[in-house]
Amino acid sequence: HQHGREEGRTTTTHMPGTLQRIFDYSARADPYPLYAELRKTPVARQEDGSYVISTYREITTVLNDPHLSSDARHLTRPPMPSAEEGVTSSFIHMDSPEHDRLRRMAMRHFGPPHTPGLVTGLEGFLTATVGSLIDGLADKEQIDVVDDFAFPLPVTVICHLLGVPREDEPRFHRWVNDIMNSIDYNPETDPKEKLDKGVQARMDLRQCLGELVEHRHGRPGDGLLSRLANDDAPDGRMADADIVATARLLFIAGHETVVNLITNGMLTLLRHPQVLQRLRDEPDLVVPLVEELLRYEPPVQIIPWRAAYSDITVADTAIPQGSQIMLLLASGSRDPKRFHDPDRFDPDRRDNQHLGFGSGIHLCFGAPLARRETQIALAELVRRLDRPRLVVDPPPYRRSPVLRGPIHLDIEQGDG
Ligand code: HEM
Repeated sequence: HQHGREEGRTTTTHMPGTLQRIFDYSARADPYPLYAELRKTPVARQEDGSYVISTYREITTVLNDPHLSSDARHLTRPPMPSAEEGVTSSFIHMDSPEHDRLRRMAMRHFGPPHTPGLVTGLEGFLTATVGSLIDGLADKEQIDVVDDFAFPLPVTVICHLLGVPREDEPRFHRWVNDIMNSIDYNPETDPKEKLDKGVQARMDLRQCLGELVEHRHGRPGDGLLSRLANDDAPDGRMADADIVATARLLFIAGHETVVNLITNGMLTLLRHPQVLQRLRDEPDLVVPLVEELLRYEPPVQIIPWRAAYSDITVADTAIPQGSQIMLLLASGSRDPKRFHDPDRFDPDRRDNQHLGFGSGIHLCFGAPLARRETQIALAELVRRLDRPRLVVDPPPYRRSPVLRGPIHLDIEQGDG
């Protein structure tokens, strides 16, 4: 592979398709050697004019640079025409100051420093939900950590957080499932129906949330939908369309990510039996362990794009306005310039400022919930499963290199 400087200003990769190699399914089970190779060119221009950034320092610089936009309208070539023209977008795709205002309004309800935060209030619910899911596994010799445990958990939690009525929950599970499957669409092998179902599910989810919000006006209650619909915050009240967009964002951002973190966590523990045993003996280890997982096997491997508002320079590389910039978070979190012995899974690691939740103004909004949910899930799985063993290693992965995780994780337990 050749890396070169063109006209002394831009680092170009001539290798046919760094992007292709990232998207190639054969790299999914272990993408880390590829990232190590890509880090030799921290800011790599691609043949299509986009840029791939793979080193810790450059990724954090870009994510904290106000010249970068999360709004696709600032891309010269938007990545994909949206299937949902005219739908209010959520704050993950907005820039300051609109982003900051909406995020602040939602954040008020989410946790410290505004108490009683929704997340602290969720502790009992999380423990009970995890407990009852594991009750259903206790007698089975073989279980799929994804289908039997990790997949149902986060939708249940987000429904509860929002205050979705219990009887509506099965519909939400189905919609989230259809949306996630459509995100993982394979144009070569999957029927188009898989995509259509995703589009339909997004519409149904939006419509149902809209009706719920309308119904909440004048009925203050504990769920986030009620709180937002009735809140007179310093920033004013959130418009209904923004409440719906925010609620949809929570389902999409807070589901698959948590599924993957739990599943990657079980997989990593089963590959490191001494750590698993330690976790059984010292349950508090789960706190640093989840941080290390977010560094070592992060669910969000890649931020697929930021748009350059204006011409910028990153690590001596000029990036023209309108360019698409892809950030390899998972590579940054394995950068040996930032982390000692980065390919070692070490829950005792100090100063673990990983990129698992991103960085800058869009830093994951659900991080306190994601952490607590995963801590309780892993601690309980390890405590209650009987001598769990992997059936296949590596397990089959979902297609996406962006939200990366096993599609199934079969384990045996007991005398098997
Ligand atoms: C943003 C990761 C769980 C809600 C992000 C971003 C990352 C991330 C990397 C930054 C995206 C960007 O900069 O473009 C994760 C991981 C999770 C997780 C690894 C689980 C382990 C959750 C949960 C929720 C959530 C449980 C909510 C219930 C959000 C929201 C944003 C976000 C609303 C947008 C924040 C903003 O634009 O200001 N997440 N997330 N996430 N996440 Fe998470």
